[in-house]
Amino acid sequence: MIQTVGRPARLEGAVALPGDKSISHRALLLNALASGAAHVSNLCHGDDRASMLRCLRGLGTRIVKHSDCGVTAADECFRVHGRGSDGFDEPSTVLDAGNSATTLRLTAGLLAAQPFFSVITGDSALRSRPMARIVAPLTQMGAAVTGRRGNSLAPLAVHGGSLRGIVHEPAESSAQVKSCVLIAGLHAIGATTVSQPSESRDHTERMMKAMGADVDANGAEVTVRRSELKSIDVRVPGDTSGAAFWLVAASCHPNARVTLEGVGINPTRTGLLDILKAMGARIRIENPRENAGEPVADLVAESSDLSAVEVSGGVIPRIIDELPVLALAACFARGRTVIRDAQELRVKESDRISATVDGLSRMGARVEERPDGISIQGGTPLTGAECRSFGDHRIAMTMGIAGLLAGGATVVTDAEAAAVSYPGFWTTLNELSHQRP
Ligand code: S3P
Repeated sequence: MIQTVGRPARLEGAVALPGDKSISHRALLLNALASGAAHVSNLCHGDDRASMLRCLRGLGTRIVKHSDCGVTAADECFRVHGRGSDGFDEPSTVLDAGNSATTLRLTAGLLAAQPFFSVITGDSALRSRPMARIVAPLTQMGAAVTGRRGNSLAPLAVHGGSLRGIVHEPAESSAQVKSCVLIAGLHAIGATTVSQPSESRDHTERMMKAMGADVDANGAEVTVRRSELKSIDVRVPGDTSGAAFWLVAASCHPNARVTLEGVGINPTRTGLLDILKAMGARIRIENPRENAGEPVADLVAESSDLSAVEVSGGVIPRIIDELPVLALAACFARGRTVIRDAQELRVKESDRISATVDGLSRMGARVEERPDGISIQGGTPLTGAECRSFGDHRIAMTMGIAGLLAGGATVVTDAEAAAVSYPGFWTTLNELSHQRP
């Protein structure tokens, strides 16, 4: 699918975001592991949710769309019937995580404790992403996990069983790795600790705690002890990472005001919000509230004058998925923005450093690729061009937003990739675009 985008005279409206992808995955998987049944509403839409549902159903979990569960009529709701820690069925076929690394890595943590054989794989992009980072700790805990290329790539074959707790100190901060090990740790003998270089998103430990698990979270270090989870109803907050596109669009467009309702503002996810504000963005946080242990608010973003920043170190895990769209914002900022310490971007759904530099430089931006990030000299107007998504949802959407801010027409090829996390993205983009000032 090709999308052609131009700069509207005015960008205005209220956006209803899809449910947060990370929290959706955890609400489904942890409720499947729990005893009891729970309603999960406002899940993310899109292919990644389908991947998690497919894997959990492949293990015998009953998850049904529910129409009478007391949430507002506008919400789509699912009822998850938990299997408890030892109620899953040995899958009769290969589990397919599609494009979703979160599905594969979190499910692998669950499989490691199951006394049966399973194989989990994904699409060609996922089969090229690093898996040694979960194979090593799961093996140390006592599971037999093998994979291609010396156990570093999916498909992964798992012979699960009894596990022992470990102290895991990975070289990079990754919420997927942490969550995989913590989920396995729920069934291990002894404590399981994950200690990362800096804090990554903490949705797993928050939700485990709300479900009654014995978890101690202290920033970058989290410990879990053997626990049975109790199902809880979750209304998933609006996707923080989906909101990022509209925050950048509104901040950089000369005539814009966009309202985002019910957005997750968990501090382990709000790196972009903090950095845009430090750059001078006019973003208001309204009606802060709490939802299933997660902070939520409405955000209002307006046209702003931005200045360059340096982005590196401990903030990187808090903004990891938003760095491509931050690089776009930096094109509109006074001065040179440098993003460092972000080499993890090279092993996402695409190599997001080179994909971002490719798209923005086609539009005339002064961007340079660094081994661990991007440097952007702001202030050169962007001109519409043909840009590729590289099959990566966040690159497709970043280039779509670039099209809203550039002179002339921008053509995004393979634009359907946006549907991995945000199927309504292109419709919302059109609805916010007004041809009269
Ligand atoms: C995610 C963690 C991050 C993020 C991904 C979702 C999660 O990946 O990039 O989109 O839900 O735990 P890493 O854990 O590999 O950094």
